[in-house]
Amino acid sequence: MDNLKPVRVNRNRLETNLQALAVYGHNGPSKGITRPFGSQADKEARAWLSTLWSRHLELQVHTDPIANLWVTIEGKENLPAIVVGSHHDTVTNGGMYDGAMGVLLATEVLQTIQEHGIQLRHPLKAVSFSGEEPNSFNVSTLGSKVATGKLSTEDLFEKRDNKGTVLFRETLHELGGDVGLLTNAIITNQEIGAFLECHIEQGKKLESKGLSLGVVTKIIGIYREKIIVIGEANHAGTTLMHHRYDALTAASELLLVAEKAIVACKSDEVVGTVGYLQVEPNSTNIIPGQVEFILEIRAVDSPYKERIIKEITKGFNEVAARRKVEVQREVILDQAPKPMNAELMQALEHGANQIGEQVARLISMAGHDAANVSDVTRSAMLFVSSVNGKSHCPDEFSRIEDIAKAGNALLEAVLYLDRKLD
Ligand code: GLV
Ligand code: MN
Ligand code: MN
Repeated sequence: MDNLKPVRVNRNRLETNLQALAVYGHNGPSKGITRPFGSQADKEARAWLSTLWSRHLELQVHTDPIANLWVTIEGKENLPAIVVGSHHDTVTNGGMYDGAMGVLLATEVLQTIQEHGIQLRHPLKAVSFSGEEPNSFNVSTLGSKVATGKLSTEDLFEKRDNKGTVLFRETLHELGGDVGLLTNAIITNQEIGAFLECHIEQGKKLESKGLSLGVVTKIIGIYREKIIVIGEANHAGTTLMHHRYDALTAASELLLVAEKAIVACKSDEVVGTVGYLQVEPNSTNIIPGQVEFILEIRAVDSPYKERIIKEITKGFNEVAARRKVEVQREVILDQAPKPMNAELMQALEHGANQIGEQVARLISMAGHDAANVSDVTRSAMLFVSSVNGKSHCPDEFSRIEDIAKAGNALLEAVLYLDRKLD
């Protein structure tokens, strides 16, 4: 009778693991987590995860040349692997679920399959990608970009952090990677037949529908420009208002030009942000001589992005000419929207239905490693409801009941795909 009982993940273990990983980079009581790529907290989180995988799952941890962490349960047949996972780094003062939850759900699925003695046809792998979030090297989804051939040794060999002091290759080396061997980190659809990433929704759509789980149809496109405004630093007391070339007041106008162009699209599928800005010399009694900021535009459909860029180019040129400042622009990311794989979406829905859950289909307004992986192999994402839609902040929260449901839906989806895929 017992073996008719469905296999289910261990909710208590999942909760314990989530709390344990959240210790690394924690900024103190009622504060968030800061665990960017290459930080001490990143190193500690990697060590903790490696121990969990090697001691508790008794699997050999493989660190690839971009320092993505992998473990594999071998399959019975010679088939491409099914991969589950996400990332373990965080934004500055972020939450404990973004990325970490997906890695620990993957861990839980592997461990549950192992302890029930289930022998899959396909190899089953868990992955934790390196540097998914923006970091001091200005590269997000770093691990999946390298793994899908979008960044090479040549691109990263001389790369330094945004202060120009730290070499990327040295940081990578400290994490167990090797910038000279990045081609060895590249994945193919011969090796990997499916990638499933579980993630918190980071929005309010599921909550407003009263659902715990959602299946992603498309991941939004992300476009980023680094913009440098060059004015003239001068004395804040003696320089008359009409003799100034203030880089910060000019930059402020540029920000508003961008916001206006984005709002004019009148679409809930277009957003834009300037969340990073550096003022030089950043001193009370000196007129700002230079400002650097990063403008990000996210759009589900590319024509919106093109329209916004046209508008801001016009507006930026006007502000630069009127204020007599120089505006330098460099595109640092231009990632198209990525549709998810229909077969895998259906498998996730099947998984959720197996545990009696209805799911919504929704667009991801956040970027994810699955967007890169989808260029190489079938990819899909399962979302877990976020309480109040909060994310990238200490208040980020998802209920353990919902997380456990995601674990069971993911487990069922893996078992289903193992039967279906060849
Ligand atoms: C990833 O967290 C993003 O910026 O969407
Ligand atoms: Mn994030
Ligand atoms: Mn994430």
